[in-house]
Amino acid sequence: MNQRLSTLNEVEAAIWEELERSARDRSHPWRTCVLATAAPDSHDQAGVDARLVVLREADAATRRLLIYTDSRARKVAQMRAHPAATLVLWSTTIGWQLRCSVRCEIEDNGLTVSSRWARIKLSPGAQDYLSPLAPGTALDGQTPAAGQRENFALIIATVTRIDWMELNADGHRRAVFGDGPARWVQP
Ligand SMILES: Cc1cc2nc3c(=O)[nH]c(=O)nc-3n(C[C@H](O)[C@H](O)[C@H](O)COP(=O)(O)O)c2cc1C
Repeated sequence: MNQRLSTLNEVEAAIWEELERSARDRSHPWRTCVLATAAPDSHDQAGVDARLVVLREADAATRRLLIYTDSRARKVAQMRAHPAATLVLWSTTIGWQLRCSVRCEIEDNGLTVSSRWARIKLSPGAQDYLSPLAPGTALDGQTPAAGQRENFALIIATVTRIDWMELNADGHRRAVFGDGPARWVQP
């Protein structure tokens, strides 16, 4: 952003424009983001878990973000049990951090899933979902043959709140959208 936006409406519109752009543009810093989930039943963690994921689609009209995953992944079980999660995105280019509160649904069949699978099934990325072993399974020194059945699934994340922070030499700014009226807050 060359010119600083002055109103909350402008900022919110620009956030969604940028989210949509990031899902289309492989080099956009927001395309790779951190997904944090609740993991209260886990024995080896402090009740939270987080990992990098790739933002595949963003739709301002429905406020939905879409991520590809393996239906056997730990994060999937976590979100099925606790659908509230947070996506954290940062861009050095525009100096914006987003913390998106999201409610996640997992879809592993149906047209929404099969249409996305059709797009990637012939690409090298399809291998990510074809392993006969679930993500995180201990390997005993052997590389298993590729499985026949895809475990491809979608994480559909509906954004309920956005905490926006802009780092700028002229002064940092922060605003909150989505839970009540949009408002500026102390950075
Ligand atoms: C740059 C990068 C991008 C990744 N993108 C995804 C992704 O889009 N979906 C996904 O399920 N895992 C992705 N991963 C792998 C996850 O970070 C994680 O290691 C894996 O999904 C297992 O996580 P879980 O045990 O919490 O389910 C990515 C990893 C890296 C390093």
